[in-house]
Amino acid sequence: MPVGNGHQAALISELVAGFGARPEMLIQILHRVVEQFGFVSEAAIRQLADELNLSRAEVHGVVSYYDDFHTEARGRHSIRICQAEACQAMGSAALTRHAQESLGLALHESSEDISLDPVYCLGNCACSPAIMINGRTYGRVTHERFDELVGAMGGDD
Ligand code: FES
Repeated sequence: MPVGNGHQAALISELVAGFGARPEMLIQILHRVVEQFGFVSEAAIRQLADELNLSRAEVHGVVSYYDDFHTEARGRHSIRICQAEACQAMGSAALTRHAQESLGLALHESSEDISLDPVYCLGNCACSPAIMINGRTYGRVTHERFDELVGAMGGDD
């Protein structure tokens, strides 16, 4: 079930709070944002600047200095499959293998269209296994549901 960008904003707020909202932790926070979402969106930059009491230029400066911090999904579509404990218990390893085979991509790999990455807990553990497609979280994803979601991405945007 889609959760949307409000969910992304809530997760970023949690991350910031987890680091005590300390501006000097910006780089660590950015690493976590990339782990979760694959890239640092403009919305995330605005939110981080607000919540850490930094200017947007300061956050942008750090993001553009480090190669790790992409500001866009690498493929046109970003697919992230949760590898954390609750999802592992509900078959995320098999789902990951299915995704790799059907997309012809390994984790951390990207085609022009799709980047496939791991993520470590999407805050959706009650609905494991969970995945995120283009910033939206989906729960209880079976192999069939995965194929449907990927099929639906095709001409969407
Ligand atoms: S462990 Fe996968 S969503 Fe929490």
